[in-house]
Amino acid sequence: MIFSTIGTSWITEKFIEATNASGKAKLHSVYSRSSEKAKQFAEENGGAKWYTDIDEMLQEPTDFIYIASPNTLHYDHVLKSVIQGKHVFCEKPLVYTEDQWEKLEREASRQEVFIFEGHRHLFTPNYDLLKEALPNTGQVSGALLQYIQYSSRYDAYKKGEVPNIFSKEFAGGALMDLGVYPLSMAIDLFGEPQDIHYFPVKLSNGIDGSGTLVVMYNGFHVTIMCSKIAQGTIPSEIHGEDGTLTIDHLAPINTISFYDRKTKKTEVLTQTSPELDMVYEVEAFVRMIEENDKTYHDELMERSRLVVKYLEIVRKKEGIFFPGEK
Ligand SMILES: NC(=O)c1ccc[n+]([C@@H]2O[C@H](COP(=O)([O-])OP(=O)(O)OC[C@H]3O[C@@H](n4cnc5c(N)ncnc54)[C@H](OP(=O)(O)O)[C@@H]3O)[C@@H](O)[C@H]2O)c1
Repeated sequence: MIFSTIGTSWITEKFIEATNASGKAKLHSVYSRSSEKAKQFAEENGGAKWYTDIDEMLQEPTDFIYIASPNTLHYDHVLKSVIQGKHVFCEKPLVYTEDQWEKLEREASRQEVFIFEGHRHLFTPNYDLLKEALPNTGQVSGALLQYIQYSSRYDAYKKGEVPNIFSKEFAGGALMDLGVYPLSMAIDLFGEPQDIHYFPVKLSNGIDGSGTLVVMYNGFHVTIMCSKIAQGTIPSEIHGEDGTLTIDHLAPINTISFYDRKTKKTEVLTQTSPELDMVYEVEAFVRMIEENDKTYHDELMERSRLVVKYLEIVRKKEGIFFPGEK
């Protein structure tokens, strides 16, 4: 398969590296707003073709488009691509309203193409191990999932700049950027929440620099802590009546261990640290297209819809509005 990219930051480079490592897809062309950047990015990535006009690039006979633009641009970029009959791999969070999700889903279905939301932590063998081990905890009684990572862009914010990921204009903030990882994991493991509450710590421009999300299920709650203004050092845990699963980090997951409450023994379930965990999502995406696996696509899209739905509910309840809203 051949593909084009939108976005020229490090995550696009990582995606290209992952496609090369997988051998499943090859870069055809890149887009940037600046011709200088487009040319340089293309040269650095194997001499791909380059464009400063997305619509022109979409005329190329590529199979799919990889999208890693700022969050508020995802909707337009995905829509354009889908209308041109391209499959899409879009970085998380796919969109910021359920209404946008519905429109994209409808158009993709009309064009008979697939949309895939990048959630690199949920496609890895280590994550499969976590799912397999979950029943060993017995009746789940709670979970504490954290993604607390100091952003180098916070330094710029403190100096008076507004980097995209700290702006409302580009749907930034701790929950949209980092909380989305544990939230998608909670929804994947436990299904649709019964209720949800977010307690954001807002920065001066009204965006959440950090926050605590409480995702409520029948009989237990998942507490999610996310932050872009501090560095976390503790792992995440899923607690059950029979034992506890400890996850060193959510994306990538490097080590998972299980503590058996009765024997008081701890077993390490994983040790290998995937060098390039995006390879697994690339493989899942390409397989889905090659096998025209609509059932898998619908499952993933439903998970995306739930994530978008609950992100939208909590942020609006807390007065965090993005372009086109209030
Ligand atoms: N899966 C992961 O682990 C992971 C990690 C990081 C980010 N992401 C996701 O990837 C996406 C991009 O994140 P990022 O941090 O790379 O974003 P970013 O640096 O703010 O922007 C990404 C690209 O979009 C273009 N861009 C920047 N500002 C723009 C503007 N004002 N208008 C139009 N285009 C603009 C730039 O490309 P040009 O200047 O070349 O046009 C830039 O390379 C986000 O959705 C994020 O959540 C995922």
